[in-house]
Amino acid sequence: MAKLDILEFPDPRLRTKAEPVTVFDGALRHLVADMLETMYAAPGVGLAATQVNVHRQVLVADMSDEHDQPLVLVNPCILESDGTQVFQEGCLSFPGLFADVERAMRVKVSAQDIDGKPFEVEAEGPLAVCMQHEMDHLIGKLFVDHLSTLKRTMLLKRMEKKRRQSA
Ligand code: NI
Repeated sequence: MAKLDILEFPDPRLRTKAEPVTVFDGALRHLVADMLETMYAAPGVGLAATQVNVHRQVLVADMSDEHDQPLVLVNPCILESDGTQVFQEGCLSFPGLFADVERAMRVKVSAQDIDGKPFEVEAEGPLAVCMQHEMDHLIGKLFVDHLSTLKRTMLLKRMEKKRRQSA
């Protein structure tokens, strides 16, 4: 396994739409293992393949404190969603940036596992946020896209300032 480099905003590759996975092979297994290692090391609770510059519909997540409940979704698709919640989100592609985002409270997602076997997962609260956030990455959408233009501009300026100070 190896830790992968995470693309950071404003890298234009974060805007790439991922292609569906059609081959469930050793390379996919390897990618998922590397993504989990990268996510845990960061540390983060979710990571989309887009963020490690692999443009395939794969995401990993783990909201547990012990890092022992990895969730791997290949070709995920939202079947149902309802309710709303506002949750403070961060993103490994935006170091140090956090913002309140409104999303569905509950989602039902269909996906395939690492062997291509279809399954469904229902989530609510923080896990539902995480899944929606990571699925956005797979279509080239970023959490700051959910903010008002004014809020986004303000936050990105602040992030840029912090980056310059630490450089
Ligand atoms: Ni993210």
